[in-house]
Amino acid sequence: MSDFKREQRKNDHVEIAMAQTDAKLSDFDEMRFVHHSIPDIDVKDVELTSELSDFTLDIPIYINAMTGGSDWTKQINEKLAVIAREAGLAMAVGSTHAALRNSKMASSFSVVRETNPEGIIFSNVGADVPVDKAIEAVDLLNAQALQVHVNSPQELVMPEGNRTFSTWMDNLARIVSRVDVPVIVKEVGFGMSKETIRQLQKIGVRYVDVSGRGGTNFVDIENERRSLKDMNYLSNWGQTTVESLLESTSFQKDMNILASGGVRTPLDAVKCLALGANAVGMSRPFLNQIENHGITETLEYVDQFVAQIKTIMTMLNARTIEDLKQSQLVFSPKLESWINQRQLEL
Ligand SMILES: Cc1cc2nc3c(=O)[nH]c(=O)nc-3n(C[C@H](O)[C@H](O)[C@H](O)COP(=O)(O)O)c2cc1C
Repeated sequence: MSDFKREQRKNDHVEIAMAQTDAKLSDFDEMRFVHHSIPDIDVKDVELTSELSDFTLDIPIYINAMTGGSDWTKQINEKLAVIAREAGLAMAVGSTHAALRNSKMASSFSVVRETNPEGIIFSNVGADVPVDKAIEAVDLLNAQALQVHVNSPQELVMPEGNRTFSTWMDNLARIVSRVDVPVIVKEVGFGMSKETIRQLQKIGVRYVDVSGRGGTNFVDIENERRSLKDMNYLSNWGQTTVESLLESTSFQKDMNILASGGVRTPLDAVKCLALGANAVGMSRPFLNQIENHGITETLEYVDQFVAQIKTIMTMLNARTIEDLKQSQLVFSPKLESWINQRQLEL
C-alpha cells in the first residue's frame, strides 16, 4: 500500500468516525448504582489518583489512540497534546505504522511529545509489527507505554485489510519480551473475553484496554469504505465495554485493566471504574470536541467531566477509585444473563 493511500485512509477514518453517532442503547444504562441518602464525605474529599503498576495517573481519564500519519491528523495530535498537557491527562497516539514506514510522517506523532514534554504518552502499533519497529515506536515518542492494537474484525471488513492473524500471538509475546516499557494490548471497539485476557496474561501481558462495543464502530467505518457497503450486518459484533469489564474481573488483582469504547458521560466513566477499570479512555468525544469547538472549549469540557466524576463519587460515598470498587451495583436481566451464561465470578 502506498504512503499516499495510507495517509488518505487515516483521514477517511477520522472523517467517517466524526460523522458516527453512538449506539442508541448503551450497556452503561443496563447497570445502576444503589443510592444511599446521606454521604459521609464532601466533594473536596474526593481523590482521583489512580495507581497502575508502572505509573500513576492524577486523573483516571486518558485520550485514547486516534491520530497521526497525515498532515491533518498531525494538527489534531498537536491540539490533543495541548489538552493532555493542560488538563493533566495521559494520551495515546494513533497507529505509528505510517511513521515507521516513512520518516517524513514521524513529526505527525512526535509533535505530541514536543508539545507535552512531561506528560504520560502511549505509542501505538498493530499486532503484526516487527519487534524492532515496536521499539522504534516507543523511542519516537519517548513513550511511557506501548499500546498494541488487536483489530481483527476491522481488518477483515476493510477492503485492503490484513487476512493473516495466526502469527499475532507469537508476535505479541516477542514484543512483550523485548520492549522495555509496559505493553498495553488494546482492542478497538470489539471488547475482550476472559479467554483472550487469560491468553494475554500467559504471554506476560500486564495491561489490557478492553475497548468494547458501544461507541466508535470500526465495522461500520470500514463498511462505509467498501464499494458494496455490504457488511453492516456485523455492526453489533463483539462485547460491549461493560460486558468486557465483567469478563475481566478475575484478572483485576494481577493485571491493569483499562476501559474504553463508548464512554460518553462522567457516569459511564464512574461505572467503568466501579467495575474495576484502573483508568478510562475516550477517543471520538475528544476528536469531536477539538475539531468542532477548539482548545478552550475542550479544556472546559474536560474540567466539567472531571468535576462531575467527583460529584458522582460523592453521591456514592467514594473518596477514592479504590472505594468505588466497593459500590453496590444492580445489573439488568440482560447483563445478568451474560454473567450467568459466561459463568463470570464477580
Ligand atoms: C478516528 C479514529 C482513529 C482511530 N485509530 C486508532 C489507531 O490508530 N489505533 C488504535 O489502537 N485505535 C484507534 N482507534 C480506536 C480508539 O482508540 C478506541 O479504541 C475506539 O474508538 C473506541 O473508543 P470511543 O468509542 O471512545 O471512540 C481510533 C478511533 C477513532 C475514532
